[in-house]
Amino acid sequence: MRQSSLVVVANRLPLDDNAAPDGACEWRRSPGGLASALHAILEQTPATWVGWAGGVGPAPQLPDIGGLRLRPVSLSAAELRGYYEGFANSTLWPLYHDAVQQPVFDRGWWETYRSVNRRFAEAAAEVAEHGAAVWVQDYHLQLVPQMLRDLRPDLLIGFFMHVPFPPPELYMQLPRRIELLRGMLGADLVGFQRPQAAHNVAQLAQKLLGAHATDDMIIVDGRTVHTGAFPVSIDVAEMRALSSRPDVLRQAKQLRHDLGRPKRVLLSVDRLDYTKGIEHRLTAYSELLRDGHVKVRDTVMVQVAVPSREQVDSYQALRDRIESEVGRINGEFGRVGEPAIHYLNQPFARSQLAALYQTADVMVVTPLRDGMNLVAKEFVAAREDGGGALVLSEFAGAAAELEQAFLVNPHDVDGLKETLLHAMSAEPADLTARMTAMREHLVGHDILAWARAYLTALDHTGRLAERLPDTAEKAPAASVPWHR
Ligand code: ADP
Ligand code: F6P
Repeated sequence: MRQSSLVVVANRLPLDDNAAPDGACEWRRSPGGLASALHAILEQTPATWVGWAGGVGPAPQLPDIGGLRLRPVSLSAAELRGYYEGFANSTLWPLYHDAVQQPVFDRGWWETYRSVNRRFAEAAAEVAEHGAAVWVQDYHLQLVPQMLRDLRPDLLIGFFMHVPFPPPELYMQLPRRIELLRGMLGADLVGFQRPQAAHNVAQLAQKLLGAHATDDMIIVDGRTVHTGAFPVSIDVAEMRALSSRPDVLRQAKQLRHDLGRPKRVLLSVDRLDYTKGIEHRLTAYSELLRDGHVKVRDTVMVQVAVPSREQVDSYQALRDRIESEVGRINGEFGRVGEPAIHYLNQPFARSQLAALYQTADVMVVTPLRDGMNLVAKEFVAAREDGGGALVLSEFAGAAAELEQAFLVNPHDVDGLKETLLHAMSAEPADLTARMTAMREHLVGHDILAWARAYLTALDHTGRLAERLPDTAEKAPAASVPWHR
């Protein structure tokens, strides 16, 4: 087994099984913030990525992607249910997102979550060379840092939480709250999207473990764990390069033509997830149509909602509700050949997303709670023309950085309607000033800056960060040209 000095451990590998047009299977870049973010920097970095390749049964043989080795971890059907669909996505995910959906506490899932975490820890221990840095990602693998420390005390261990970390009053509901906290604090550095999350962890460490804790350091079992905020970002260069490609510009023009050349296009791009606020958004849009503030003749809404976690009951129920509401709105307000909402429940290539972003006059990103929200940043990076308005939820991590967006509380449907109207009628000079400021921010805060900041805080020397490429991925891979 070849070993690496840098190992990333994440639930998912950056590839998804996909049926190619000729019926063969091919691997495609998986949608989702974590895969998008890490893929961009790791493709050119000598490292190993330990993760699940999707599907059940024995782990497939996977090709390297550039300098990056992939080490798949297998899951059985029962493990997929208990670990991924169950404890990770029906217990932790809703609880960590302000319980916008009721978390399910099923005692049967815990053992599976623990044993799958152990498998990831063992896989990481196997591929890490002596003294290597291992960077564990997200809530699926919260027990891995401590398990890895027990297996390999020689390693430097980092943990990054991509989702929000809740306030103590919510976290305290978790039946296995102490084990989960201890598991995460097995790392040398625990990173979050926002400083508030580090504060929440410090309070919990004091309360549950009796630890000495500040907002940037916790002492557990005589060991110092550093904590801090490292807001994740996107491959700005990739999105900018895509957005200036002549074929993408042509596609954007064509899209506008296909949409019936409306005065305004409103766009939303989400995983089909209850945290994304899709239902609140549809209510607001439907009321704007009903009140006559928006006319189907001159405004269209495009809602891209890529399928996600389709086996989980709450996601199936959400999809049913959304599709029925889209049907109702189109039935009531649409005209022949002019639907009020174009609903697309499909994955898109990066170039298609770039074309969509260029087509939007108003990008509507209104999650009820989101660790970061990379779609908002992708939209800003794609607007080489300096145009377009971003309506952004105050409850997305991105709102702390993209302050010039039209910020909104998505729970307040009246406020959401007002903000949408404000963004739709804003003066071009106002929009350009806002967009210019947000783009300037992003240039200095791209995915490489994030990885450098995190890795430098992890090893304190900058040597890990030196392994990263000078620029992130230049030629985006819409699909990995490799057939099984
Ligand atoms: P999350 O991490 O919850 O999925 P983010 O907004 O942070 O949310 O990241 C979503 C990522 O998935 C973005 O990089 C976005 O481009 C990608 N994505 C969203 N919708 C699609 C789609 N229909 N097809 C392909 N990629 C998508
Ligand atoms: O950011 C949260 C997250 O769970 C990421 O780990 C992942 O990129 C994204 O949401 C998509 O989720 P899933 O891997 O369950 O499809």
